[in-house]
Amino acid sequence: MTAVPPQVVVASKNPDKLREVEAVLARMEHPWQIVRGLEWPDVDETEPTLEGNAVLKAVAVSEATGLPALADDTGLEVDALDGAPGVHSARFAGPEAAYEANVDRLLADMMGVEDRTARFRTAIAFVVPGSEPLIVNGVVEGTITTERRGDRGFGYDPVFAVGDRTYGEMTDGEKNEISHRAEALRALVAALEGSRGSTDSPDGA
Ligand code: IMP
Repeated sequence: MTAVPPQVVVASKNPDKLREVEAVLARMEHPWQIVRGLEWPDVDETEPTLEGNAVLKAVAVSEATGLPALADDTGLEVDALDGAPGVHSARFAGPEAAYEANVDRLLADMMGVEDRTARFRTAIAFVVPGSEPLIVNGVVEGTITTERRGDRGFGYDPVFAVGDRTYGEMTDGEKNEISHRAEALRALVAALEGSRGSTDSPDGA
């Protein structure tokens, strides 16, 4: 008999993020069936950390749907801006700010700044209803360009470079191979495999 894969909900209403999470998972060996099309109330990101907000979203969505949920919270940390926009990346240019406005503000704040080092950080929380969250991270170091380059991806992708290319200049496949989100998803699958291994009986029964 073939085992039925466990169902998982990706706790995001951002279509760009959903697309990327699903594309990264599609390239990996993982045990899940991703359930789409479910509804849940909006979750306010009120915690001061990425990890806290990822847990808020995963807990709320697992409670609303009754299914295990995986939530990603991501921030861009710019050294010359003391780690900003960080946990406020979605609303850097104000509440409900569009990607364009956030990138404009970042380029303006970084005008003439020499130290352009930055990193994307993703925290993922995985919550099975009634259990403690599992939290993992993915980090990718890069630099902030002086102008937009490339028209692929979303959010800050056109101004975040890894090596000499921005995420916006990479194909989806190239970004999904190296991104902060891919790192975090790989860490999640590895952590779940590890915890399964440590609770399995020695004979695998
Ligand atoms: P959040 O995780 O939805 O709070 O995302 C914060 C903000 O970071 C989003 O609004 C995007 O602008 C940006 N962001 C998240 N992930 C990425 C990414 O992979 N590339 C570029 N920008 C991103």
